[in-house]
Formats: sequence, C-alpha cells, structure tokens
Amino acid sequence: MAALTASSGAASSGAAATAVMCRGVTKSFASAAGPVWALRGVDLEIPAGRVAMLVGPSGCGKTTLISVVAGILKRDAGTCHVFEADIEALPRRQQLDFRASTIGFIFQQFHLLPTLTVAHNVAVPLLINAVSRRHAIDRAHAMLEKVGLGGRGDDPPAQLSGGEQQRVAIARALVHAPKLIVCDEPTSALDHDTGMRIMALMRDVVVDEGATLLIVTHDNRIFPFADMMAHMDDGRIVDVRLNGGAAGAREALSGQ
Ligand SMILES: Nc1ncnc2c1ncn2[C@@H]1O[C@H](COP(=O)(O)OP(=O)(O)OP(=O)(O)O)[C@@H](O)[C@H]1O
Ligand SMILES: [Mg+2]
Repeated sequence: MAALTASSGAASSGAAATAVMCRGVTKSFASAAGPVWALRGVDLEIPAGRVAMLVGPSGCGKTTLISVVAGILKRDAGTCHVFEADIEALPRRQQLDFRASTIGFIFQQFHLLPTLTVAHNVAVPLLINAVSRRHAIDRAHAMLEKVGLGGRGDDPPAQLSGGEQQRVAIARALVHAPKLIVCDEPTSALDHDTGMRIMALMRDVVVDEGATLLIVTHDNRIFPFADMMAHMDDGRIVDVRLNGGAAGAREALSGQ
C-alpha cells in the first residue's frame, strides 16, 4: 500500500472534534437464504478535518457502513455519532435538517434526477436548505466550473458521459459546504488526470472549509490523498492506519 507512514490501532488523534464515531455497529439484511450480516460490529473514529478512506473487498460492507453513518440506513445495534449527533435518535424533521445541512453524499450510482437540468441537480441541496432559487442556481454553475463542467449546466444529465455525471454528483455533494462529505467510489468513472483534479478539489475543501471526507474507494491512485485508511473485511474494520495526507497529495499531484 502506498505512502503509509504510521500505524495506530484506534486512529484517534489530538484533533478536538470527532466527525464520526461508530461503536459496535451491526446491520443485517433479509434475503431468501436468511439474514445477510453486512456489518458485524464496526468500530470507527474519524477526527474532524481529515480525509479518511475506507477500503476492502467487494461485499465487505463499505456502502452499508457509510449509509448508516449518513443516516440513510438504520443500524440494528451499536452507536453511531456524526459531530456528536445520533442522527437516528433525532426526530424525523431534525434528522432531515441535520442531513441536509451537515452531510454531502456521493452515491455509487450517482442518483442524478433525470428530469432536472445538471445545474438544478447540483442546486438541490441548496434549495432544500432554503437558499433562494436564483442564488442556488448561480452557486451550482460556479461549482460546475470547479469540477470542469462549466457550460453543461443547462443540459439534462443523460447527455453527459459517465465520468461527467460522476462529477455532477460530486458538485452536488460539495455545493452547500457540508461539514461531512461521504463518497462511494468518487473517482471510479474518471480518467487519471480528472480523478486527480477532483481529489485535489475535495482536499482543498477539507483544508479551506475544515470539512471531513469519508471516501470508499478501490482506486489506489487516490490513496496518497488520505490522512487515514480504514480497512474493512467481512463487516468489520480490521485495520486503521495513518497516511501521508497533505504531503502525499502534493506528491501525487506533482507526479502527474
Ligand atoms: N438491500 C440489501 N438487501 C440484501 N442484502 C444486501 C443489501 N444491501 C447490501 N446487501 C449485502 O450486504 C453485504 C454488504 O454489501 P455492501 O453493498 O455494503 O458491500 P460493499 O463493500 O459496498 O461492496 P462493493 O465494493 O461491491 O460496492 C453484501 O453481501 C450485500 O449483498
Ligand atoms: Mg459498495
């Protein structure tokens, strides 16, 4: 594995705030053959203001875990806090407000709304947060510029390539400056240079806004951007290591 510089069992640091804290999280799904245990007791702590990557074999529970963290899926047992809030325990309305204001989520399958223009898709988190329509669309266009899609805002998503649609999903997750950005394979459809540019953009968000990134990835090209790597296997976190972070990102970008 690239650029590992230190190792720590719990990956806790001196950072004041904790972005994500999971303890003993379990989650099962019903299937024809009986319950499938996707999470078998996950312990994970991510300090605020870091880039954390979650890696592991297909089917080990990565998407399930980040969905539980973001409050999209309910856990069966255990505790999970995002900036000290237990999303599941909040009343429904506050749950929605907390998720809308605090979390940006990039889905593995993008989930763009086909009947909206690209710019309207990106503007959705702002509109949910009661930003005026005109201001939201202006900010959406500005964010589209940053992901290299200036000029495509008025197109429907179906007219964009897979990699372009992925960048729209990334722009939508970043546009409202959330404190926690959760991404499922954000560079899977991107070529090397575009993937590096998008990771540099996401890393800038961490540095400039003090956001926290939780990224599921198989893409070893982006591993150097991580401050910490959490390895998952069969529904558990089996290893957490501190990584090169900012220095690694500089090296990765200079090597392009
Ligand atoms: N809605 C569901 N119903 C039944 N089983 C599910 C459901 N969602 C996930 N699973 C099962 O839970 C396990 C973990 O799935 P998950 O999608 O979290 O894996 P993953 O690590 O994200 O895999 P990949 O790298 O292929 O995306 C798998 O065995 C999967 O089949
Ligand atoms: Mg997955």
